[in-house]
Amino acid sequence: MVPLKRRRAAASGSDRPPRSGSTSKSAVRFPHVVIFLLERKMGASRRVFLSHLGRSKGFMVEETYSESVTHIVSEENSGDEVRAWVDSHPEGRKRERPACLLDISWYTESMREGLPVEILDRHILQEQQRNGVGDAVFSVPSYACQRNTPSQDHNSPLTDALSVLAESAEFNADEGRGVAFRRAAALLKSLDWRVTGAHQLRGLPCLGEHMLRVTKDILENGISSEVEATQQSKHYNSMKVLTGIFGVGVKTANRWFREGIHSLQLLRSSGYTLNRAQQAGLTYYDDLSQPVTKAEADAIGLIVKEAAISISPGAEITLTGGFRRGKATGHDVDFLITQPAECAEKGLIAKVVSRLESQGLLLYHTCSRNSYHESSKGPSRPSSSMDYFEKCFSIFKLSKDRVERQKEETSHPDTKTDLRPEAWRAVRVDLVVSPKSQFSYALLGWTGSKLFERELRRWAVQEKSMYLSSHALYDRKQARYLEASSEEEIFAHLGLEYIPPSARNA
Ligand code: CTP
Ligand code: MN
Ligand code: MN
Repeated sequence: MVPLKRRRAAASGSDRPPRSGSTSKSAVRFPHVVIFLLERKMGASRRVFLSHLGRSKGFMVEETYSESVTHIVSEENSGDEVRAWVDSHPEGRKRERPACLLDISWYTESMREGLPVEILDRHILQEQQRNGVGDAVFSVPSYACQRNTPSQDHNSPLTDALSVLAESAEFNADEGRGVAFRRAAALLKSLDWRVTGAHQLRGLPCLGEHMLRVTKDILENGISSEVEATQQSKHYNSMKVLTGIFGVGVKTANRWFREGIHSLQLLRSSGYTLNRAQQAGLTYYDDLSQPVTKAEADAIGLIVKEAAISISPGAEITLTGGFRRGKATGHDVDFLITQPAECAEKGLIAKVVSRLESQGLLLYHTCSRNSYHESSKGPSRPSSSMDYFEKCFSIFKLSKDRVERQKEETSHPDTKTDLRPEAWRAVRVDLVVSPKSQFSYALLGWTGSKLFERELRRWAVQEKSMYLSSHALYDRKQARYLEASSEEEIFAHLGLEYIPPSARNA
């Protein structure tokens, strides 16, 4: 806290230039007071308004949180919530002298007075007594869409183990358990430090007794007997192979398993009738189980762009899915296509696909037409992961030459393609077409990760009484749809801090 005297002295004038970040033309009048307004619950637009107001009165209001911040101001957050937010920021834990956590009333009163008012008890956010060093459990927000989750994982032995258990629950058609394990894994993945002892996990959300037991086993013994047993089980291994076939879901795989089909070989010799997707999945199984590289994704991007533009010159193509989140490889490549002129996108996918087909670039495809209807009464289902866009699930025949040429042009120096005798490989590609008016929602919905999307929808329903889909956001309280022309606006509608794609790897 800055002593009042010093603040008064500062208020009487200063010749220090404004710091970077406080983008104001007005001179800084109180250089010892560096304010950061927490967007959480305040919302993006109110934060922008209050920041401008403060700067116009000569306050230093920082855009981003850093070590130099002295006053953290928030609205409708508890002291513990703000502390958790601060602690989840690397900048926050570095500092020696902590910033004071203040209620918005201190800020508004300071605005009214035109100077930083004295900090009174009622301005200070109350925090619970914190534990001793080592046990200093800081809580982390419980929804994955409130946290940054980069692709780098500091706790992969733990998250891998929990993912195995999640997968196993999914193979047993136990969706609830599957999600619980996925949430636990995502929580550990969001930590920007390595967990070394079970005591560090006390008080963190999403980690039930079962998850804590598994993580404790791994931290203390290097392995978890439950995870080991799962990975050795016949059911788990067979299901991994069978659901790994494009076109085969958990239900079909379980039926085959019960009928004694435990491997690809048994399936091939079973004489079972497979649908078109499954036939393609089995035919290209080896290729499709190889990760797709960024160079391959870029090469496919060029092909799709060329095809779309030749049909509709204004078409815009955006790489979505894992690659948009900055992942180095993926199980497929996802694209979102749109058109600046509303309705001009109708029927585009069929034309793009027939062009790609005539060029011999498709090994398999199945297209669907747009079937989205916006009811004025709001969506019929709360928050659906289903979307109704015009789209095509496909398998591309990608020439390796093309990838090499692409690599030279965009210089992907360290991605080596394996040089098998085949001149091409099969790659799964998803093409989705969205009307311009729904583009931001489609982009958010198709960027993933799957768990991040699921958490966004859960947040919308449970915390905001809103229904989110890849088409729209419906506010039940206002009984209307909320338009958005960017992902940032959607996060703001949802009262969430913006999370960039690279931090959505939950
Ligand atoms: N998605 C969707 N509807 C589908 C399939 C996928 O809305 N029928 C969304 C998923 O929710 C996810 C995104 O599209 O947000 C990408 O899905 P997917 O390609 O399965 O996963 P990625 O995150 O791209 O992972 P990978 O790199 O392994 O492909
Ligand atoms: Mn993908
Ligand atoms: Mn996909």
